[in-house]
Amino acid sequence: MPDSVEVSDGAGIRTIRMNRPEKKNALTQPMYAAMTRALGEAQDNDAIRCIVIAGGPAAFSAGADIAEFLESAQSGALRSRTIEFLMAIAHNRKPLVAAVRGLAVGIGVTMLFHCDHVVASTDATFSTPFLKLALIPEAASSLLAPMRMGHARAFSLLVMGRPLSAAEAKEAGIVNSVVESAAVDDVALQAAREIAALPAGAVAISRALMRGGLDAIDRQIDTEIMHFRERLQSDEARAAFSAFLSRKK
Ligand code: COA
Repeated sequence: MPDSVEVSDGAGIRTIRMNRPEKKNALTQPMYAAMTRALGEAQDNDAIRCIVIAGGPAAFSAGADIAEFLESAQSGALRSRTIEFLMAIAHNRKPLVAAVRGLAVGIGVTMLFHCDHVVASTDATFSTPFLKLALIPEAASSLLAPMRMGHARAFSLLVMGRPLSAAEAKEAGIVNSVVESAAVDDVALQAAREIAALPAGAVAISRALMRGGLDAIDRQIDTEIMHFRERLQSDEARAAFSAFLSRKK
């Protein structure tokens, strides 16, 4: 079976590709762990000057694996690999480019608030159906989305669960460019090369200045996790997970 996360390095760029197409790249604990490792190793590696996160043609990611949510609801624990990934992407110091084709759902969207440059396909859609699952937004998106898009648009996306098209996501400031699906990876790589060619020290300082202190992000992630844990175990969330997993197509 191929790895569900593929990591490759070349010309100063590390590519982390989610690769679980049969489940639309729904993220499992081993996938979070692999992505955390790939981000972590890059931090003190001077040879890596930019990181690209990518998915497949049909899906960037359908979000967290709902079967694992149901297991967490039953065991009472929010899986630790998820939290480690959230901290790793929030604390990542390397420039991060995302190549989004097709579906981006849940954490497939909220991780984009930690990226520096996002290329999307014309058929990409961005949705965060947290509330439909009786959950709440995560990955500090409850802080970063209103900052990036304004409260009204962030509320529509994060709370009302209304999806954004690629064009709307660009208009909202989440996406830099929208191109044909077949061109997404190349355009993202081109942006990564452009960033990798800049003086690395100056890029790192500029990026850190622009992102600001991490204290507020850490605090928001902690607070979100506290509520998320409680919501995961609610009867309404369990019912929503079971309904998804037993739905008839
Ligand atoms: N967790 C677990 N399995 C998931 C999943 C998820 N987040 N998203 C998709 N899958 C699985 C489906 O159950 C299906 O599995 P099966 O073939 O064994 O039945 C497979 O991936 C393909 O998904 P499918 O629903 O057939 O594709 P689609 O194109 O019709 O719809 C989605 C794609 C993403 C719209 C739909 O799968 C969906 O709503 N997924 C849940 C998204 C979500 O709520 N994520 C969590 C956010 S907090």
